[in-house]
Amino acid sequence: MARPLTKRAPRGLKRMLSLREFEAALARLPRPARDYFRAGADDELTLADNPRAFERIKLLPRVLVDVSTRDLRCNVGGHELGLPVLVAPMAYQRLAHPKGELALARAAAAAGSLYVASTLSTFTLEEIAGVGGLRWFQVYVHKDREVTASLIRRAEAAGYSAIVLTVDVPVLGCRPNDLRNNFALPGGMTMANLAPYMARGQNATLAAFFASRHDASLCWDDLKWLRGLTGLPLWLKGILRPDDARRAARRGVEGIIVSNHGGRQLDTAPAALDALGAVAAAVKDTPLLLDGGVRRGTDIVKAMALGAQAVLVGRPFLWGLARAGEAGAARVFEILREEFDRALALCGCRSVNEIRADLLGRRAP
Ligand code: FNR
Ligand code: LAC
Repeated sequence: MARPLTKRAPRGLKRMLSLREFEAALARLPRPARDYFRAGADDELTLADNPRAFERIKLLPRVLVDVSTRDLRCNVGGHELGLPVLVAPMAYQRLAHPKGELALARAAAAAGSLYVASTLSTFTLEEIAGVGGLRWFQVYVHKDREVTASLIRRAEAAGYSAIVLTVDVPVLGCRPNDLRNNFALPGGMTMANLAPYMARGQNATLAAFFASRHDASLCWDDLKWLRGLTGLPLWLKGILRPDDARRAARRGVEGIIVSNHGGRQLDTAPAALDALGAVAAAVKDTPLLLDGGVRRGTDIVKAMALGAQAVLVGRPFLWGLARAGEAGAARVFEILREEFDRALALCGCRSVNEIRADLLGRRAP
């Protein structure tokens, strides 16, 4: 359950009333961090289109339904969440706040959400596990497959309950400002999970790291190898095509995250929400999640009406961290909870099970 903000919560947080208001907190960060968090690929067309896709879809509210009691809980991968929002895996969270991943994982646990830890965290996956709460581990596969095997064994030992394989980064997308800034972690921060396998100072920039260590040869047949490493459920993150979704379903993955990586990979890929309907029609029995551009409670309703069990939210949590650490991230959760609750009521739904496609009105051109 969302914990009330403590007395120590920075003043003014309660007056923040929408996720977008938090974005201004990026101005507090050094330029390279701000640019990295904000970045989309190339012309940033997909980045801009992700939220617009939600604006294009209208909701058709059902009236005169008794919505005096409402239940926001949902089930994802066998876990009951307090609201249908997970924290998207994001690298380098200490750039937003000194407590980074630990603060965000704490806010997620307090909200009854699920924290997806990135391979490229700035605290180790074991340190993040120490926070408690539900957690999944996101995997980037290294050319040295033993590194990946070791990370997955560590995640299993530390109580992560699923592996999320990100499949939309065979190579890193081009984020022009990051290249201009020669973007790298500042001194004192490391890709903490990978430190044991890397020489100090190796692969300083993110671009160099992906170019030299990341395995661009990963393909469908490798899922067997990955399955052999762990009994944990496997989710694929970054699928946009119905045929890829069917391939994933045939290989028995536990779920699919429909995503374009927040517009950071292939520019001009469709908005994640625009890809969701066709994927949902193609794989009726495989659980789906969606991320990319979710900023409002009504966005959650739209994604669920189109077939997602829940959504992941990315950047707004980094904005919350930059604004006020754990308390900022907690406020982002609180706003999402209040907005989603209100959207349910106004749509004539008492629970997430009553969100159906008939709520979707005409799509604006
Ligand atoms: C990401 N994303 C990401 N995805 C992933 O699988 N592993 C990772 O390490 C990262 N790192 C990362 C860093 C930053 C700064 C951002 C903004 C994003 C992508 C992320 O999980 C998610 O797909 C998008 O962020 C969702 O879009 P929104 O909510 O940010 O619009
Ligand atoms: C990013 C990678 C690390 O989007 O996933 O920056």
